[in-house]
Amino acid sequence: MFLVFEGIDGSGKSSQARLLEEYLRKNRSARTLLVREPGGTPLGEKVRELILHPGEEEIGPETELFLFMAARAQLVRTKIQPALEAGRAVISDRFLWSSVVYQGLSTGLLPQEILRMGRLAAPGISVTKTFLIDIDPEMAFRRVREPNRMEKRGIEFQRRVREGFLSLAEKFKNRVAVIDGRGSQEAVHARVVSHLPTHGWSRCSSP
Ligand code: TYD
Repeated sequence: MFLVFEGIDGSGKSSQARLLEEYLRKNRSARTLLVREPGGTPLGEKVRELILHPGEEEIGPETELFLFMAARAQLVRTKIQPALEAGRAVISDRFLWSSVVYQGLSTGLLPQEILRMGRLAAPGISVTKTFLIDIDPEMAFRRVREPNRMEKRGIEFQRRVREGFLSLAEKFKNRVAVIDGRGSQEAVHARVVSHLPTHGWSRCSSP
């Protein structure tokens, strides 16, 4: 069971990923692993620091794409794959769709080109369900307290990111839940839970 949260900056998906992890542990007796991208491994955290706080050096869009993919490959090989093989439910705060959308916008590469790179970074991994936390960028902006480099690109950029996610959701309808991100954390969490896959939990529960 591999569950992924995606959404624009400030959509609240990180809180939702944490709430779902807790819910699965407590209510479904699932053994879980919660990870975030970029990050989740020592190398990944270094890459995260590099990308989000690059200092003086300008990072080119292609460099950035490969850095995200490198962090992802390491996370998949050392954490996600072993956890899935051990029958744990893995919850990831962002995954490949973030590269498709964000790096698609910055490099001009097509979704299928980045998805193909993703198959190299995450061989044999398939996402059971993506929860796309959908929210108006104006509302999301009010939630972001400390905009980092990625978040400073403004509302217009976030609008394009939102469109990018929605068009992916349209394309892969059968394995995505578009969740209305408005309202309280609890209300959004209840929407997420109502879209959980119904089968496959027995394998994830404690022996
Ligand atoms: P982060 O502080 O984790 O923000 P959030 O809580 O919104 O996830 O910063 C991650 C930033 O990196 C975010 O702006 C999205 C961006 N990103 C990409 O551009 N490509 C990727 O593949 C990933 C995983 C993230």
